[in-house]
Amino acid sequence: MKRIHLDQAASSFPKAPGVSDAMKRFLDESGANIARGSYKAAIEAEERVFETRSLLARLFHAPDAKNVIFTGGATTALNMILRGFLHPGDHVLVSAFEHNAVMRPLTLMQKDGVIFDVIPASADGGMHLADADAFVTTQTKAIIMTHASNVTGAVMPVREAGLFSKEYGLKLIVDTAQTAGILPVDMEAFGIDALAFSGHKGLLGPQGVGGMVVTDEMASMMTPLIAGGTGSFSHLYEMPDVLPDRFEAGTLNLPGICGLEAALLFLREVHPEVFAGAQEDASLQAEGIYARETELYARLLSGIDAINEEAGKECIRVIRPQCACVPLLSIAFKDHDQGEVARQLEEKYGILTRVGLHCAPAAHHASGTFPDGTIRFSFGAFHTEEDADSAVLALHEMVIDRWKLRQD
Ligand code: ALA
Repeated sequence: MKRIHLDQAASSFPKAPGVSDAMKRFLDESGANIARGSYKAAIEAEERVFETRSLLARLFHAPDAKNVIFTGGATTALNMILRGFLHPGDHVLVSAFEHNAVMRPLTLMQKDGVIFDVIPASADGGMHLADADAFVTTQTKAIIMTHASNVTGAVMPVREAGLFSKEYGLKLIVDTAQTAGILPVDMEAFGIDALAFSGHKGLLGPQGVGGMVVTDEMASMMTPLIAGGTGSFSHLYEMPDVLPDRFEAGTLNLPGICGLEAALLFLREVHPEVFAGAQEDASLQAEGIYARETELYARLLSGIDAINEEAGKECIRVIRPQCACVPLLSIAFKDHDQGEVARQLEEKYGILTRVGLHCAPAAHHASGTFPDGTIRFSFGAFHTEEDADSAVLALHEMVIDRWKLRQD
């Protein structure tokens, strides 16, 4: 049975061509650390890291490669940003769709006197900045928002949030885990002060590598969460002031960075629109990865609509925001256990989904799907129409051919 990995929002599979080769090459032929040795292999490893940083700086329209900081992933990066930037008494606003990578650090930080308010979801399933006005206080320091919900797919109005932040003198912190590599993320045009990214989702790289991109001003307002050796300024007991060293203590995931570089080179060649700035030609986007994956999303959506129509009732509830969405679709079964449906999808049809609360209970509260959660289908760069059709056929067989018969 063919395995159809419709769980790209959790981690991409397959990875971009060249990723595993690049990782293997580094492990088999180099193994050197950066900024520690002056031998050739160490210099070459340094080059790989610099090239990857530069690619990410171009991807995110960051001020400079030095503003890109590598971490083990978006969660670590968000902890570093939040804990490094916020102090007791500070107040922040978050969207109603935040992942636990934001909600849990903030909840822990409440004990230290950090306060947060949730901007309610708008009627269209997204977020309206006008609703945030009422929450701003003199203590408010930042808006923290996911670029797109990992539960509903709803894309948050990041550009408007940038304008709002400027108007109120706030910092804008964005979690791009569900958009990097799918939608343009333009720090400069959107007015983003700090973002966190994941290397293994839309960027098609390996797990264990991600990071943050911070402007110089934001960096100057952040205390490093992790302190240690950087291979630079070793005479100091304080962390160096320079970027990226200030936030990169310890040895980086160099095999992971080599893999991510290969993935970014693939993306730049095959999907240049992802690197395009927000201002650039819309026709690039019209033919790009987002448009292609959205077609698959629409194919699955209309297939599910047809199943409900044939069943004569809404057997499958579709979580369908009316605003722009990334290509992930959450559904919920009214009369069946979500986990059981997901298990059958895998065992009988080879279709891999993610079921439950997706580490984002806030988004499920906002969508009315708490506590049962949903079954989430998420598309990636290498999916085909056949994959979307397989999911529809499987759901059709489960709902119409089996369950309906059982109910009749
Ligand atoms: N946050 C990831 C997901 O949505 C892991 O599945």
